[in-house]
Amino acid sequence: MCGIFGIITAQETNLGPLLTEAGRRLAYRGYDSAGCATVSKNGIDLRKDVGRVDEVAQRLGFAEMRGRRGIVQVRWATFGELARRNAQPHLDCDGDIVGAHNGNIINNVQMRELFAREGHSVRGENDGETCIHAVERHFDRGCDMVEAIRRAHADLEGDYAFVITHRDNEELYAIKKGSGLVVGIGEGFTCCSSDLHSILPLTRRFLRVRDGEIVILRPHEVVLLRVSDAAPVERTPEVFEGEVPIADKGDFPHFILKEIYEQPRVVSELLRHLSKDATVARFLAALRAAHPLFLVGSGSSFHACLLGSYYFSRLAGKLVIPTLPAHFIECYAPTLGSDTSVVFISQSGETKDVMNAVGVARSKDVRVLSIANLESSSLVGASEMSLFLQCGYEFSVAATKTFVSECVLLLYLAQQLGGMDTSSLWQLPDLLEDTLERSERYVDGVLAHLMAMNDMYYLGYGVTYPIALEGALKLKEITYMHCEGIFSSEFKHGPLSAVAPDYPVVFVTAPHDVDMMINHVNEVTCRGGIAIALAEEDERLRKNVQAYFPLPAAGQWLNPILATLPLQLVAYRASVRLGLDPDYPRNLSKTLTVD
Ligand code: F6R
Repeated sequence: MCGIFGIITAQETNLGPLLTEAGRRLAYRGYDSAGCATVSKNGIDLRKDVGRVDEVAQRLGFAEMRGRRGIVQVRWATFGELARRNAQPHLDCDGDIVGAHNGNIINNVQMRELFAREGHSVRGENDGETCIHAVERHFDRGCDMVEAIRRAHADLEGDYAFVITHRDNEELYAIKKGSGLVVGIGEGFTCCSSDLHSILPLTRRFLRVRDGEIVILRPHEVVLLRVSDAAPVERTPEVFEGEVPIADKGDFPHFILKEIYEQPRVVSELLRHLSKDATVARFLAALRAAHPLFLVGSGSSFHACLLGSYYFSRLAGKLVIPTLPAHFIECYAPTLGSDTSVVFISQSGETKDVMNAVGVARSKDVRVLSIANLESSSLVGASEMSLFLQCGYEFSVAATKTFVSECVLLLYLAQQLGGMDTSSLWQLPDLLEDTLERSERYVDGVLAHLMAMNDMYYLGYGVTYPIALEGALKLKEITYMHCEGIFSSEFKHGPLSAVAPDYPVVFVTAPHDVDMMINHVNEVTCRGGIAIALAEEDERLRKNVQAYFPLPAAGQWLNPILATLPLQLVAYRASVRLGLDPDYPRNLSKTLTVD
């Protein structure tokens, strides 16, 4: 979702490069447009346009922008078409207030009607601009900036954070209501951002801002106020002790490819960590006591929930309900009791749909547990306890290593819950390496069938069904081709009508399900469709399909995890062949902080 970053320094300086770098680090949140504003004694310099932050920075010369205050924003569009006028930051009517937001103002239309009645000159349709006029109208009536922000907060509905400053006022202000906001405290500067990651190259000292708080940033000081009554809030800064993530593709042309190839290492890191993580035992005790137990996530994380439910059922005899966050709220929330526990799974730990469901779960007093990648995330802050994916930062917008880590972690928990030996998991890093090596030989063969069509199905049966969904999501996401993942036995109930001569269908098959899958394969091939198998070597299956990707022999439970990798690589190679940028698929964002 959009990303905002603001900084105030003691001395006037060349802020442009620093702001561009912060924008780059936030680029995973949105790349529909980018903009930069600096405030110096000469006034406000605002440059913004449609496009990725790097392109816009180059085109508009962000590098030369100077000042003592600066704001950068990267946008994932919700309100207002992709146009310069809707790019952020925005100015108020007379150009002396500038600011940018992240989030959604849900009474945007009503506010704009109000501005029109009051004679404001509103330039676009974007709700970030609404935040600026909402502050301006109170400021122009004589409020100081803090009071104007407090009153704007009362007028604006939705979840958001914004950063704002007045040309003549040597302070920067920010407010948090529902969207991420972190403050950094450095030597001779302070800054604020949608995430901690964009602050860390500048300083490791930071403050977490809570909902309903305003921050006043000065070069040597940060003041926190409660929005409700403007009372000061005391909070001790924290110091980030971990490794600062570096956006480095190494020898790879794209982040996603690097992250796909990191998976064997990431899985061994995770397993090493789990074997000594004291939280695991408490987490397992909570899972054991839960009736019912939900696994909740969105997108790829939902697919991991689905796979987790098979693992828990088959390996630990534990019934788990995997579901989407909104479905959890709409369908299950009324039934929650005190024995309910929910494990929320989210790589970003910020997804708004997930956080909405967390809010509902907490309001019902059920136990909130989480699986996340970032300790500083909102999800972790809202959870009773969390386990971590240990994958390092994932830069590509499409989830790859985080998904695989989620699946491995759930398999580990299910085995532990079932009293099983988890040592078989230690084969995974080598098996994943082997799968990557095989991909070099077999992915192009699969691709040849798929690229001929712009539309196809991935079918899985039982434990491979979540992988069919995940593979299809990856392909849709980074190639814009249409691909549906389906439970293979459901194919005959309607979608089979799509099959005509040469229509490709991929069958993701685990060893115990080969006989069943052969039936489903034949329903396709007898109609002229092309069947492509992704399975361990099996003579019977091989005889029935036109193309075969032989996965390493790993058994029923590791097989789905291995099958994920070729599907990631199929999507990646298709995306590159189509001339797309697989790291930044159009219309998407890595962290979705709106409804
Ligand atoms: C797919 C993808 C998305 C995310 C989804 C949830 O490649 O990245 O579908 O899985 O937006 O994100 P998290 O896990 O951050 O809650």
